[in-house]
Amino acid sequence: MLLVLESLSNEYAHKSPSQLGELPLKTLKEKEVVVTGGAGFIGSNLCRTLLEQGAKVTVFDNLYSGKMEFINDLLDKGLKFVKGDIRDPTEIEQATKNCDVIFHLAAQTSVPFSMDNPKEDCEMNVVGTLNVLEAAKKAKARVVFTSSCAVYGNPKQRPTPETYPTEPIAFYGLTKLICEQYCNFYQENYGLEIVRIRPFNVYGPNCHGALYDFLKKLQKNPKKLEVLGTGKQSRDFIYISDMVDALIKAATTPEAAGEAFNIGTGTTTSVSEVAKIMVDILGLEDVDIYFTGGEAWAGDMDITLADNRKAMKMLNWTPKISFREGLTKLITSKKY
Ligand SMILES: NC(=O)c1ccc[n+]([C@@H]2O[C@H](COP(=O)([O-])OP(=O)(O)OC[C@H]3O[C@@H](n4cnc5c(N)ncnc54)[C@H](O)[C@@H]3O)[C@@H](O)[C@H]2O)c1
Repeated sequence: MLLVLESLSNEYAHKSPSQLGELPLKTLKEKEVVVTGGAGFIGSNLCRTLLEQGAKVTVFDNLYSGKMEFINDLLDKGLKFVKGDIRDPTEIEQATKNCDVIFHLAAQTSVPFSMDNPKEDCEMNVVGTLNVLEAAKKAKARVVFTSSCAVYGNPKQRPTPETYPTEPIAFYGLTKLICEQYCNFYQENYGLEIVRIRPFNVYGPNCHGALYDFLKKLQKNPKKLEVLGTGKQSRDFIYISDMVDALIKAATTPEAAGEAFNIGTGTTTSVSEVAKIMVDILGLEDVDIYFTGGEAWAGDMDITLADNRKAMKMLNWTPKISFREGLTKLITSKKY
């Protein structure tokens, strides 16, 4: 670390040790924080908590999949919104000028889209992330990057630790892995503090994905639920408040810089169990749940299960919400 610091260019000479990672940002209160992708599912929930904690928050989002309705009420609470695209280096540089922390969440997040459009996936996720890292370098900001458990592909070891070989099976996982390597380069070469978060399956208000699809299908027809795949695929579902807690701890734990963390519960629930629990919570009867069979979609993973002990130890983080409890909260929120 000392060698790296010594080799920093003069550009960094005026930075105090705290800004270079030797002392923590103990709290985000009064800090200038930019959330790329802040109008999306995870980002909008993160912004809500950051504002409650007294941070000065700017969302940078091009509304590709994010929605203003997720953050409209936060504008009255001091949230700043910048409509911009991470593929444009000037836009992101301007929005992050003087900021202390960047939570970089903006991405195209669909595995099927990545398989059909690898070039666009690369431009949005890799080139976009490179621009964010360049902007962070100029602003001398700490970065929390949301990678994904998709970097592991279909791991044979479950629960899967961070040390497990990364062998993505979809372009989406590949671009996340490449971004992680860019993060490592920026940390090593410029002394930036960068934490890589590998979320498993996050769910909660404003979410998309399988749980959202099931709820929408049952809303439309409470007697029938078609499930893509065999129903045997299984996921480590992590509730949004636990995810947000992990992101904030990643930003405020000094020794997290340079590390990757799995964020999951350490339990896995099969898709068929999910369907049954959902039907039960909704109080529906005689629902015909049927499975299409085969792979749900190209690049789909079989089973995800996080070994979350590193995050629990180093970030002092504990997932608090069980799957049934979280699903009940999502259904009660009616935000789906
Ligand atoms: N939701 C999960 O289960 C999960 C799991 C693993 C990793 N992640 C990662 O977490 C992050 C957030 O995921 P999410 O579920 O909230 O997804 P989301 O699609 O709801 O949010 C992504 C946000 O990024 C914005 N965006 C996309 N391209 C952009 C661009 N070029 N410039 C500016 N903004 C852009 C979108 O408009 C959207 O608001 C993503 O990086 C995703 O890969 C999510």
